[in-house]
Parts: sequence; structure tokens; C-alpha cells
Amino acid sequence: MADTSAQAVQDGEAAAILGFDPSDPAFHADPYAHYRALAAGGRLQQTTVGLWVSTSYELCEGALRDPRFGHRPQGGGLWRDAPQRNRSFLTMDPPDHTRLRRLVSKAFTPRLVERLRPRVEELVDDLLDGLSGEVDLIASLAYPLPVIVISEMLGVPPRDRDLFKGWSDALARGLDPDFLLPDAEIALRDEARAEFAAYFRELAAQRRAEPRDDLLSALVGVSDGGDVLSEEELLATCVLLLVAGHETTVNLIGNGALALLRHPEQLALFRERPGNVAAAVEELLRYDPPVQLTLRAALEDVELGGTPLEEGRLVLLLTGAANRDPSVFADPDRLDLLRYAEGRDAPRHLSFGHGIHFCLGAPLARLEGQIALKKLFERDVALTAGDLVYRDNLVLRGLRDLPVVIRA
Ligand code: HEM
Repeated sequence: MADTSAQAVQDGEAAAILGFDPSDPAFHADPYAHYRALAAGGRLQQTTVGLWVSTSYELCEGALRDPRFGHRPQGGGLWRDAPQRNRSFLTMDPPDHTRLRRLVSKAFTPRLVERLRPRVEELVDDLLDGLSGEVDLIASLAYPLPVIVISEMLGVPPRDRDLFKGWSDALARGLDPDFLLPDAEIALRDEARAEFAAYFRELAAQRRAEPRDDLLSALVGVSDGGDVLSEEELLATCVLLLVAGHETTVNLIGNGALALLRHPEQLALFRERPGNVAAAVEELLRYDPPVQLTLRAALEDVELGGTPLEEGRLVLLLTGAANRDPSVFADPDRLDLLRYAEGRDAPRHLSFGHGIHFCLGAPLARLEGQIALKKLFERDVALTAGDLVYRDNLVLRGLRDLPVVIRA
């Protein structure tokens, strides 16, 4: 296998590793055209350095629910594993993943999320209140909403929220595979993780001494048949929830608003059918997902779609491409807000993943996305002309800003 260290990436070989060039502005503008070109070469392809890449729905879905694929660090030169103490259950395999996810789910139930509905509505109203004229939707709505919600859920005091922005930026880039990151970015990410963890160590100690009605107190107190979260596990979980809360839903709201603004007839439908908002958000998640891909390693010698993969090989699962696989979705490049309407049985999108790592925050993300987009488009909103700039990230797809005009 070729050297795939960060240095190689700095020399511009990301395209060789991936099979497409994520730094090409044309890729940011329309990654789906690039995925289509890639898919023309086959459902599963090996790039020049040995990484496997799949654009196929069937293979992405299959690998995500196959226990023979996971996160054990066996990717040879391609997998620089995070130190154990920093790992959250997002990148663990059973039985550790099962144990931790179960413990955290107990403190993160759908009931707890539904209780947030009035608060999310109130926050969206407050954020939208008084917005008129030229507005950046990312800064004014899409970013602050999920940040405030997850901070309030965890019990982070409002005065500390700004601390997180810098840390979270560094950590978000850190969601990209290590082999695509320069060493300096990895160092920044690790530093941010350490600072984040130190902050939560302190806050958790306060909650242990004096529990409140918040998620952090619940996590501190969580136990199951004598099983508890260790301090390190608790901290890694808080960091995971904070990063997930900061960096994903923002892009559901941003990408979703953009897709609607670019399809006036679908926007009209969105406004006419408030009862279809949940289905519309599912289609927006399929059409331009905030999370574009995930990685898995073959934990043993396996076959994927008839191709033998040696133990330790990495597969890049392009779920953003799978969501537009024409063998599964009718007219996949069309935004169709009725695709998931009641009575239709479109296949599930893979935007929240699939299998044992299916997004734990999906109910919260859906709630926030539905309320934010519904209330936003109760107003008269128009896209401002000009180039759109995306954030520099491979796993996450999201705009730096989204300039619009809101007429009161
Ligand atoms: C896992 C997407 C919002 C918490 C995942 C995965 C995806 C995803 C694709 C699986 C990754 C993999 O299998 O490698 C999204 C999207 C969101 C969103 C698109 C917004 C639209 C959230 C929120 C939270 C959250 C708001 C919590 C505050 C988690 C957690 C996991 C996860 C804890 C790990 C689950 C596990 O490993 O068992 N998310 N997410 N997510 N997400 Fe989300």
C-alpha cells in the first residue's frame, strides 16, 4: 500500500486516495455529479492507494449492518487511530459500543426529546423575530438553534457557549478521516478535545455534587445493573454530543433551506402542506445530506457485493451517493417533497446512517429541522445572488453562510 500519511495528502493526493478531489470547488458545488461519475466505474472500486469506495445503496446499507465491518484500527497506513481515551462510542465496536450506547440512550430518550418541542419553537421564534432585509441564515438561525438546544440539554451555562465555537470547529474538521488531515489539523483537534474534556470534567464534578434536571446530571447518574459510565467515557460522550449538536443540524437547516429556495415549486408545496413537513424534511435529508460518508474497516476477510476484501481494508461508504442511487430511488436527482409522504414507500435514506450506529440524535435533529424550516418559510424569503461557499470538510457538507433577503 502506498504511503498515505498526511504529508502525502498535503501534496495533493487526496484525490488519489478517494477517487475524487474534495478540494475542487466544482466538487463542493455539486458533489453528486462527481459521485455519479465515480459510480459509472462500478459499485465498489479500489482507489490507487488501496482504499475501497462504494457509491451503491445496497453495498453501503449492507456494510453498515454487517458485523464483519467495524472500527477496529486495522487499516494499515490508512488508519491512525485516536488514542483510546478520546474515543467515543461512535467509533467503537460491540461489546463496548453496545454497552455505552445503551447507557447513553437511557439519558437521551425520545420522550426527553419530545419534551423539548415548546422550547425549540420558542427559540426559533426568538431567532427569527425581527429578522428582515439581508440576513445570513447560517449565523442567524441554522447555527445558533442546535447549539443552544444541545447546550441547554446538557446543562452548559449560556455564558460558556462561545467557548465551544472554536473547539467545535477544530473537532468538526477532525471528523474527517485522519489520513486526509494534515498533522497541524490533527494537533488542533486533539488540543480542542482535551480542552473540551477538561471543561466537562469540571462541570460534571459540579453536577455530581449537586444534580440538576439536565442531561449531564443524567449521564453522571446513569447506571444499568451496576454498570456505569467511567469518567473518560462520560467526557468522550459529552464531546460527541456537543460536536453532533453543533455541526450537523446546522447543515440540515442550511442545506434544506437552500434546496427549497432553489426549487420554488417545491417551496410552494412545502408551504401549502404543513402536514407534510416531516416527510419533506426526510426528502431534504436524502437530497443534500449534512453527513456525506462514513468509513468502516473489514474486521475479517469478507465479500462485499461479490468483491473479496481482506481483513483490515477500509471502505469509504458514500451515503450521500447511495441516497441518489438510481437502482433504488426513482428519479434520484429530483427534489420531491412527497417522496416520503404518507402512503408512499420510498426506501429509507442513509443520512442518519444505518445499523448499530444509527444516529442517536435523529429525533432531536428532525424536531429542530422541521420547526426551523416551517417557521422560516412562513416568512417571505429569497436567495441573494452570488457564489455560495462551503465549509472545508469532507464528511460534513454545509455552507459557510447563506445570504437571503427576508421581507417583513
Ligand atoms: C451518529 C448523522 C444530528 C448524535 C450519526 C451517524 C450519522 C449521523 C450518519 C452514524 C455515523 C456512522 O455510522 O459512522 C446526523 C445528522 C444529523 C445528526 C445528519 C443532523 C441532521 C445529531 C444530533 C445528535 C447526534 C443533534 C445529538 C445531540 C449522534 C450520536 C451518534 C450519531 C451520539 C453515534 C451513534 C452510535 O455510534 O451508536 N449521526 N446526526 N446526531 N449521532 Fe447524529
